Amino acid sequence: DASDIEKGTYPHYMLKETDEQPLVIRKIIQKYQDEEGNLTIDQEIVDAVKSSDRIYIVACGTSYHAGLVGKQLIERMAGIPVEVHVASEFGYNMPLLPEKPLFIFISQSGETADSRAVLVAVKELGHKALTITNVPGSTLSREADYTLLLHAGPEIAVASTKAYTAQIAVLSILADVVAKTRGRADNLNLVKELGIVANAMEVLCDSKEEFDFIAREYLSFTRNCFFIGRGLDYYVGLEGALKLKEISYIQAEGFAGGELKHGTIALIEEGTPVIALATQENVNLSIRGNVKEVSARGANPCIISMKGLDMEEDRFVIPAVHELLTPLVSVVPMQLIAYYAALHRDCDVDKPRNLAKSVTVE
Ligand code: AGP
Repeated sequence: DASDIEKGTYPHYMLKETDEQPLVIRKIIQKYQDEEGNLTIDQEIVDAVKSSDRIYIVACGTSYHAGLVGKQLIERMAGIPVEVHVASEFGYNMPLLPEKPLFIFISQSGETADSRAVLVAVKELGHKALTITNVPGSTLSREADYTLLLHAGPEIAVASTKAYTAQIAVLSILADVVAKTRGRADNLNLVKELGIVANAMEVLCDSKEEFDFIAREYLSFTRNCFFIGRGLDYYVGLEGALKLKEISYIQAEGFAGGELKHGTIALIEEGTPVIALATQENVNLSIRGNVKEVSARGANPCIISMKGLDMEEDRFVIPAVHELLTPLVSVVPMQLIAYYAALHRDCDVDKPRNLAKSVTVE
């Protein structure tokens, strides 16, 4: 049938979509470039972002995790404060809003009911909204004031992969364009840096055997697994845990490295897998300290670091990319480890139990 043709030689859509990520990043660069090769975003959208006193990112699941990264990008590059909220909470627990908030809805499908409920509520209050989505003409796109497209191509697997990286790439472009128009040119050549990201992603997609091996070694028989990181790595850990949960049914949680000692470390037993991310220079030593703490209590640590920050004990080293863009790259091992863990445990990778691709009920 048609869906098999689309899958080509791949056994699963998830694997195909993970592999498509370097291409998607290159396509996004192209789609957001003007004739001179400069990154560009509709002036209306840039003005809406620039004139807001606070941005509210609202999303669910993986898109929420992309939003957490987006907050860092917009705050650090463009200098505008950003809050990130889970849509289902925001709906009935709305924070006190400033005078000129701008809402950004991030949604692969553009159909998520929880996000739509918030969109309807904030439009009623007279606020402006931008939807970042993969689906032109989707409900969230139609009902918002502005839309930015992901250009990731159809995502079929329930577990989102290329939409997450596309969301972060588009948010980085938005942050960069706004930063430049606010005179915050910090010599970041985003086109070049995203190109480096695409190449690094390719290296990771060519390292599948390694991730298959890690999944086999750490996750074949385990009941649970923890992901730890600090800063951007923490957010990627949350995404890694969600990927693993939804397709392999292993109980997985992402934690901020520094929070471990406030409770979670009690869960560490002999052999508990702890996947630690180390791509951020300012917290490299402290996350490694956390790894030592869990190892001393019997954990089986798997450190994934970035070239330049790597140490002897690391299990896998990803190629170096700009420090703000690391999630685009460090998430790929998370996706592939989850994929192979699900495969080894005989799970239905593309259609995990109890889940739907787009959640159209609140
Ligand atoms: C991701 O792997 C999940 N299937 C899920 O969390 C998803 O990201 C969430 O339901 C949001 O969907 P959306 O991006 O289409 O709004």
